Formats: sequence, structure tokens, C-alpha cells
Amino acid sequence: MMARSETDTPRRILLLPGDGIGPEVMREVRRVMDWFARRQGIAFELQEALVGGASYDRHGTPLTDATLEQALQADAVLFGAVGGPKYDDLAFDQKPERGLLRLRKELGLFANLRPAKVFDALIDSSSLKPDLVRGLDIMIVRELTGGIYFGEPRGIETLPGGERRGINTQVYTTTEIRRVAAVAFELARKRQHRVCSVEKANVMESGVLWREEVKALHEAEYSDVELSHMYADNCAMQLVREPKQFDVIVTDNLFGDLLSDCAAMLTGSLGMLPSASLGAPGSDGKRKALYEPVHGSAPDIAGKGLANPIAMLQSFGMMLRYSFDRDDAADQLDGAIGRVLAGGLRTADIMQDGMAKVSTSVMGESIVRELDKAAA
Ligand code: IPM
Ligand code: MG
Repeated sequence: MMARSETDTPRRILLLPGDGIGPEVMREVRRVMDWFARRQGIAFELQEALVGGASYDRHGTPLTDATLEQALQADAVLFGAVGGPKYDDLAFDQKPERGLLRLRKELGLFANLRPAKVFDALIDSSSLKPDLVRGLDIMIVRELTGGIYFGEPRGIETLPGGERRGINTQVYTTTEIRRVAAVAFELARKRQHRVCSVEKANVMESGVLWREEVKALHEAEYSDVELSHMYADNCAMQLVREPKQFDVIVTDNLFGDLLSDCAAMLTGSLGMLPSASLGAPGSDGKRKALYEPVHGSAPDIAGKGLANPIAMLQSFGMMLRYSFDRDDAADQLDGAIGRVLAGGLRTADIMQDGMAKVSTSVMGESIVRELDKAAA
């Protein structure tokens, strides 16, 4: 076991559990963090704050400036989920989702990594045939701070005749496209050296620019990586037809939102998909980073112990890898999750015949017990 050394300064992590099942799955990740602190001497300094609806209820805004400041100061942010029907009628800038979008924007988290990896034990939970998903390992890189999510003009206006019009704008600059494409190429170099860039250059000028810029960057700096291009609608189809053709997919904010939900289901459940959102390296070489499960707040199952904590735990695993350079610890965690699944424990979302259905906390405890066993 590794001893805690003087040089091991605590990693400052801001925990933002949020709404719905966010707090429940965050509780399990704390258990796991606690284990790594106790048993592996990885020192964490944890702070916790409200975000989303929970923050709105207390402060009248989904993200306070104080919490944003804490996020800016942290080495990494661990985020649960936001939103719920209770907040549906709020003005746009007060909606829980704005809290998350503002964090992404203000922290400059332009690259969203969403790995879709299938655990052997869960092959039968996928809605696709086992052969199509066995060994599946895709990395979706979604642009996260541009495109139609943030483009101006936007809004709802009333036209002279009384009719109303809703407007959003899809907009990308050279820099925005190139920096996220670079992240995809770099990742591909550590994987199978293949990038598929996805847009709709057949109907959108922003898509034409996207394709041209990705191509140009590829020729200039990444010609060792194999690059292909695909229209987004075709990509959705190919993801369910033959998902293993992909290694790294790079795409814009909106297409990435859609395609990553689709890819998540290949792995059996949205409850299995983690994500990392990274900014540009600062002068100290460190990137701002936020880690969150791809699933939402799932208000329908909140508070019932039904939520699957694995996407949240794996988001912490990605934090260990990308923010703290602790692939060893992340591998330990992945291993423990895989063995617990192989042992037959399932939360409701991935339940199968003959398996044992367990609650959120029993799943978390079992993974910690498995970590313990492997470290003994
Ligand atoms: C996601 C979510 C968010 C998004 C929502 C909660 C704002 O769907 O992270 O995929 O649309 O980006
Ligand atoms: Mg989404």
C-alpha cells in the first residue's frame, strides 16, 4: 500500500450533488473517496455546495457566484445531476440546467469526454445483440461551450402579427473547432488511432466549416491518426447498426448530446456512463475539470434507493485519471466495479433474470468491499 507522503498535497474537490438522484449517487462516491483516502493515502480536501434546483430553492438562483468561485478554485468539480418537474415553469435563466451550463461556460470546459464501454457482465443488458457490443469501447468527444447551446441571437419574440418565434443559433469559430478536434486526436493516439468527425455539412454552413477545420488540423498535425467524416444522422444509425466501427467520435454540442445518450444505451443503461469536461491547460499545465454522470436527475426514482451509482463512481474514476494522474487507482476502481457486476449484483436499471437486485447503497458498499478484498 502506498503511504501518504509530505508531497501529497490534498486535491481540492468541489462536490455539487444537485437534484433528484444526484445526492444519492454522490453519497456512494464519498464512500469510495473515503476508501482511497484511508487505504491508498490519496488525500482529498472536499467542499460541498448546492447547484441546480437545490440552489434555486435556497438562494433563488441555480448557481451562486460564491459557488462558481469555489468551482474556479477547485482542482476538480464532481457534479451529480440537476433538474426536475418542480422547476419546469421557471424562467430560463433560473432553470436548474442553467447552473450546469454556466459552470461549463465559465470554467471554459470545451471538451466533454463520454466513454461508452461495455462491461462483459452487462452484455445482455444492452438492447443490441451481444456480438455487436462485446468489447465495445467508444470515446465520444463532445464540444461543450459553443454551438447552439450558447449561440446568439437566441430567444422567443413576438412578431407584429402576434405570432411568436423561437430562435437559437448554431455558431462555431475556427478556434472552437480546432481545440476540441485536437483533444480527440490526442485521445485517439492513446487508443486505436481513429477519429470520426460528425456534423451535417450537407445542410449546415457551420458543419462545412467544422469539416474543413478538422481536415486542416489533421493534415497539419495529426496525419498519423486515421480521420473519417460522417453526417450526424448516419452516425446515429451506425451507432446502433455496428457500434464497434468507432474509436473516437468528435462532434458539436447538440449532436454530442444526442449521440452520447444513444451510445450510453449500448452499454446497457444510462446509469453506466460517466463523463469528464475539460478546459484548456493553464500556465501550470493543469486543466479545469468537471466530472459528471451522463444520466440526469431521474426525478421519478429519486429517494427510492433505485439509482445506479456506477456512472457517478466512474466519473470519479475519470477524475483520478485526467485530473490527478492516478490511472492505477482508476483501474482499481474499474476492476472492483467489474467484479461486483460479474458477481451478479444489479441495480434496477440493469437487472436481469437470475441476478440479485440491490439498492444504490448496497451497490456502493459492495464496490468498496471489493476494493478492500483486492487490496488485502
Ligand atoms: C447532458 C445533459 C445536459 C445537456 C442538460 C442537463 C443541460 O443532457 O449533459 O447531456 O443538454 O448538455
Ligand atoms: Mg444529454
